[in-house]
Amino acid sequence: MVRHLLKISDFTKIEIEKIINKAIELKANPQDFTSALKGETLLMIFEKPSLRTRISFEVGMQQLGGHAIFYSIKDSPLGKKENIHDTAKAASRFVNIMAARLFKRHDMWDLAQYADVPVINMLDDFAHPCQMMGDFLTIKEKKGRLNNLKISYFGDAYNNVTYDLMRIAAIFGLELDVACPVGSEYTPEQVVLDEVSKISKETGAFVNIVHDAYNAARDSDVIYTDSWMSYGIPIDKEEERRIIFTPFQVNSQIMEAAKSDAIFMNCLPAKRGYEQTAEVIDGPQSIVFDQAENRLHSQKAIMLFLRDKF
Ligand code: CP
Ligand code: NVA
Repeated sequence: MVRHLLKISDFTKIEIEKIINKAIELKANPQDFTSALKGETLLMIFEKPSLRTRISFEVGMQQLGGHAIFYSIKDSPLGKKENIHDTAKAASRFVNIMAARLFKRHDMWDLAQYADVPVINMLDDFAHPCQMMGDFLTIKEKKGRLNNLKISYFGDAYNNVTYDLMRIAAIFGLELDVACPVGSEYTPEQVVLDEVSKISKETGAFVNIVHDAYNAARDSDVIYTDSWMSYGIPIDKEEERRIIFTPFQVNSQIMEAAKSDAIFMNCLPAKRGYEQTAEVIDGPQSIVFDQAENRLHSQKAIMLFLRDKF
């Protein structure tokens, strides 16, 4: 059966570790993999904007000897003259892997259901598994381990990146405090809480939704935040959201509450003065550009894994 990566929990802990270890190898010795996907093609379907994801997949596929096609939904018959079923079936006849960045999780799931090749979720409203793979590679590089860690997340928790961070923290048996405003618009959906609590029962993880940012930061190894204005949120919501999220901004008080060797992470794009201050993101504890770079190495490993190359 064809495997897909639609959310990070589609892979087991052992598989995630295997992919991270392969990414470390790819990063150290890229020259050993220049023909690993020779002659293969990745189709990248985009419905929302991207810098990192688009470039890292395109460069990654080229470095593996393959070819990537950027395909904007704007230019497609999808949703106008054609349904996802037909798009998935037809595209599967041409390419070896499909990757998609779509607004709705149901469209992503339909694409995967009908595709005859692996589908990689490059971000929808439910998950960002490629981000997590790169982020955990980065945490491993910086902290030397992926166990016995406290991670603290701040800000918008009704959010794709937060959901996969919760899932991966549960899978690895970690402590994760998600500090966010009260209210269903800002907190994780019940379906995610249920999945995370089921995984945590097996792994001993502690994933907590909290509303006091300072307490959440205490003794943390990793301070993580994401945009307050995710792709697709209307601009007229910006001021209201800025006010609601400001108590959850990562600033120097939050960094001081964490362990002295804590790292600061943001999947990017970031806005200084919003989800974090400039002194934090441009400061010595920030590792955001290593995090961005690791998207490349980890996605090369994901593609090799889904093509059964290791
Ligand atoms: N972090 C991330 O996915 O960035 P882009 O939106 O630029 O792809
Ligand atoms: N939560 C953000 C992640 C961007 C990579 C968004 O959906 O825009």
